[in-house]
Amino acid sequence: MILVTGGAGFIGSNFVLQWCARNDEPVLNLDALTYAGNLANLQALEGNEQHLFVQGDIGDAALLGQLFAEYKPRAVLHFAAESHVDRSITGPEAFVETNVMGTFRLLEAARAYWNGLDDTDKAAFRFLHVSTDEVYGTLSANDPAFTETTPYAPNSPYSASKAASDHLVRSYHHTYGMPVLTTNCSNNYGPFHFPEKLIPLMIVNALAGKALPVYGDGQQIRDWLYVEDHCSGIRRVLEAGTLGETYNIGGWNEKANIDIVHTVCALLDELAPADSRGVINTVTGVPVQQYAELISYVTDRPGHDRRYAIDARKIERELGWKPAETFDTGIRKTVQWYLANQEWVTGVMDGSYRDWVQQQYEVTPA
Ligand code: NAD
Ligand code: TYD
Repeated sequence: MILVTGGAGFIGSNFVLQWCARNDEPVLNLDALTYAGNLANLQALEGNEQHLFVQGDIGDAALLGQLFAEYKPRAVLHFAAESHVDRSITGPEAFVETNVMGTFRLLEAARAYWNGLDDTDKAAFRFLHVSTDEVYGTLSANDPAFTETTPYAPNSPYSASKAASDHLVRSYHHTYGMPVLTTNCSNNYGPFHFPEKLIPLMIVNALAGKALPVYGDGQQIRDWLYVEDHCSGIRRVLEAGTLGETYNIGGWNEKANIDIVHTVCALLDELAPADSRGVINTVTGVPVQQYAELISYVTDRPGHDRRYAIDARKIERELGWKPAETFDTGIRKTVQWYLANQEWVTGVMDGSYRDWVQQQYEVTPA
């Protein structure tokens, strides 16, 4: 079986669902169920014996030892992390705890287990670490995209903690010979994306007639990849990646934030027109005609990285992987998913979510 950490979060749950749809191999899913982890993401697997869920912390060395001994995974896919840049600015400690110390403890448990395997199983074992393009820092408009050899220059506590974890993973290969792989991916979007991140926040706020908060001038650029493409890229790296190597995964799709917000608004205008839903602007009290009326420029994020861009030629050249989805098809599917899954949205917007929105945007949530 494979051990997935963080498999109740956004990307992890998409990965587990995709894995179970395409393989018979069992999945042991270890997730602490922080605010970002939701078992509702895995509802489709209820009663499916291929999926075994354990609630627990990747920093819990004793639990990790037990799980490795009992389930003997042939691979670890490490998604678990604190993942939101804004939260890392207001509360960096959890990022160091989970992303650095948690990854360290997971590596230690994997190393102890791996050392006890026979030669064949030892050679077949994989530790795949899921990371981000944010470790490379920020680009100017005309800089070339990040490659696997771009020097690390993380700028937020989130990216710094992910960079630290990447370095630890690398060192376990170099020092102990552990069979590790690392992927550095651009911004994902798609189903089960927690509505603190740009795209789902805009969808959820627009439908509720709330302001669409665009940081600074909205001209920051990100590369966006549909989450299922990220998952297929990870599967491909697990299957055929060269040990000790890192692979950039990206969508060849750089967009300014403000353009993303306008695209989301235009899709909502088409698929869920504000006037037919009776959406009222919660700030002005006026009925909304077009969702873009809700766009509101707010104070910029401190240390906001200007541009991320991924050069994903290595994974294409060496492993034959390319994204299947274009941004147009992926974003349409995403907006349709949120419209069809309002219950999921309501379910994850619990008290702690409301507290976060209030603290971050200084508004009173409806
Ligand atoms: P997420 O915040 O949606 O999910 C994280 C999951 O990890 C949650 O289910 C949470 O409960 C779990 N978790 C957190 N701390 C834990 C701990 N100490 N022990 C066990 N479980 C814990 O994050 P995501 O967006 O799905 O990101 C998954 C991984 O992909 C992260 O490592 C992130 O750095 C990386 N990544 C994310 C993106 C993106 O756009 N979201 C892009 C590139 C890389
Ligand atoms: P986010 O989804 O938080 O991902 P990341 O910071 O990891 O790239 O943000 C994506 C971009 O959108 C980023 O440049 C910050 C910006 N943003 C806003 O303008 N307003 C918001 O309310 C949020 C959450 C993000």
